[in-house]
Amino acid sequence: MSKTIYLAGGCFWGVEHFFKGIDGVSGTTPGYANGRIPNPTYEQVYTDTTGFAETVRVAYDPARIGLRELLRLFFAIIDPLSLNRQGEDTGTRYRSGVYFDDPADRPEIEAEFSRQARLLGQSPVTELAPLQNFFPAEAFHQDYLERNPGGYCHLPLKAFRYGRLLQDARLYLGDEPDGIARMANLAALIAERMGFFWVGFYRVAGDELVLGPFQGPSACFRIRRGKGVCGTAWDRGETLVVPDVEAFPGHIACSDRSRSEIVVPVRASGGTVTAVLDIDSTELDTFDRYDAAFLELIVELL
Ligand code: SME
Repeated sequence: MSKTIYLAGGCFWGVEHFFKGIDGVSGTTPGYANGRIPNPTYEQVYTDTTGFAETVRVAYDPARIGLRELLRLFFAIIDPLSLNRQGEDTGTRYRSGVYFDDPADRPEIEAEFSRQARLLGQSPVTELAPLQNFFPAEAFHQDYLERNPGGYCHLPLKAFRYGRLLQDARLYLGDEPDGIARMANLAALIAERMGFFWVGFYRVAGDELVLGPFQGPSACFRIRRGKGVCGTAWDRGETLVVPDVEAFPGHIACSDRSRSEIVVPVRASGGTVTAVLDIDSTELDTFDRYDAAFLELIVELL
């Protein structure tokens, strides 16, 4: 059985290329959705007067990937607070949206929108609506980035790397029950694929974090709750992106080569923070919302 969902996330070249690489996705078609004229051309849609959104029809095998997973990947590659704009592309044709052709999918989509609203602290501007119409784009736009590697893409290269990493991590970790062993291989995989300077876990033990599996130079053993970037991320229960560690009050310098950092809480199924994932870079300003969104998905594998 195959199902379809229609995802508008800005320029359809990048969105198609991203979903094409996801296991369980059986087909991707860039096109124009929910507009007012039949058989629109790219030039007509480009005028921004036809009501169409650049959209990718994603066909998938629900036995291999769920709608929820697809939506979470979708929210990781869009800015759900950006109205009629993704990256440098602006206009209603670049609005973000989720359009469904099966009314039975609506509750699951609504649940994911609510989850995003909770995370963001406000509602996404992303549309949620039934599909009214969809017209595949011209051949020129199909598989565009596959045929033109290095062509324009509003998504950064790391979004594609993270997409691959997330799927491979799921396979690598499999059903190994030992939590420390899972952390160890996950740290190794992230370090290897993304090339970061330091990747590792600190585990909650009483009122402290204790060093766990990591890749990189030796690091401090213990961090108190509320101290450093790690202890603050644990205390607040939220991901912290630190563009310049020097500017973060109370930052703990385990290595003087570390210039920027991201810390992502790891939660037990009940929601309690049980550890944090800490990643350091030797460059300033390495991490952004793509790192945050994908790493939050990746630590859920633990
Ligand atoms: N910089 C961290 C401490 C851990 S090291 O970066 C590995 C912090 O401020 O919490």
